[in-house]
Amino acid sequence: MRLKDKVAIVTGAGSGLGRAIANRFASEGAIVVVADVNGQAIDAVVGEIVSSGARAYGYNVDVTSQAVLQTFTDDVVKKSGRIDILVNNAGITRYRPFSLLAHEDWDLVLQLDLKAVFFCSQAVAPHMVRQQYGKIVNISSSLGTGTTPHVGDWTAGCSAPYASAKAAVIQLTKTLARELGPNGVNVNCVAPGFFLTPLTGATRSPEQVAEHIAVRSRMAVLNRPGQLEELANPVLFLASDESSFISGHTLHVDGGRTDRM
Ligand SMILES: NC(=O)c1ccc[n+]([C@@H]2O[C@H](COP(=O)([O-])OP(=O)(O)OC[C@H]3O[C@@H](n4cnc5c(N)ncnc54)[C@H](O)[C@@H]3O)[C@@H](O)[C@H]2O)c1
Repeated sequence: MRLKDKVAIVTGAGSGLGRAIANRFASEGAIVVVADVNGQAIDAVVGEIVSSGARAYGYNVDVTSQAVLQTFTDDVVKKSGRIDILVNNAGITRYRPFSLLAHEDWDLVLQLDLKAVFFCSQAVAPHMVRQQYGKIVNISSSLGTGTTPHVGDWTAGCSAPYASAKAAVIQLTKTLARELGPNGVNVNCVAPGFFLTPLTGATRSPEQVAEHIAVRSRMAVLNRPGQLEELANPVLFLASDESSFISGHTLHVDGGRTDRM
């Protein structure tokens, strides 16, 4: 058991990659806090973890609301005694050409994909510093360092606010790693390539999804999308003591994207 009795908050754990991370952590002995805005999804994920014989509970929290983060983290500590791990996973995107992106798009995406990463980390940090132990894993994206080409009239690569936020998360990771390192807190980042989840599939037609899979597969030397557990395992590594001498690092989990090689 690589996370035996560790208390782990996973934001956006109601779906996709967060759900896979939550299940993986639970299978390694963690007490998982499934933090999401979708109540039904929270119940489903907590249900699947508990029915597997592992431990989890849900918390309906909008991580963009700075006001509730304090109460949220205090409640987790009241209930579980500590917070060992935070995975800043909740994220959103807007696929829209540069010229059509509005203020609202920027605010929506930056609010969740960047500011919430900062404020969630700020809310858990005092608990981790008190413990002199903690692991923060931020989820960035391959779009934080590379780009995706446009395909026909469909603008796969159009996600300027998302790409900007995800690039900032990589630098934020280094800054937090430096500030929290002396207190025994490791801060690292994972930059996923392409994984088929509601985020990458929901706003697209089946044809666009197929096209997206083909384009994104061609961009990686492994020539395929990732399986969800192929992301959950590296996150587990960075959340565990196996990575105790790693901090400020961004691990690219993208099948070897050629645009950064
Ligand atoms: N899927 C991919 O290929 C891919 C690639 C690179 C990076 N990522 C990143 O991985 C993370 C997870 O992506 P996913 O594909 O699993 O997405 P997803 O849409 O499947 O899941 C996102 C989850 O976040 C929750 N959420 C949304 N707003 C929230 C809020 N304000 N507070 C709390 N929870 C909220 C949603 O309810 C949902 O359960 C994101 O940060 C995303 O940018 C995904």
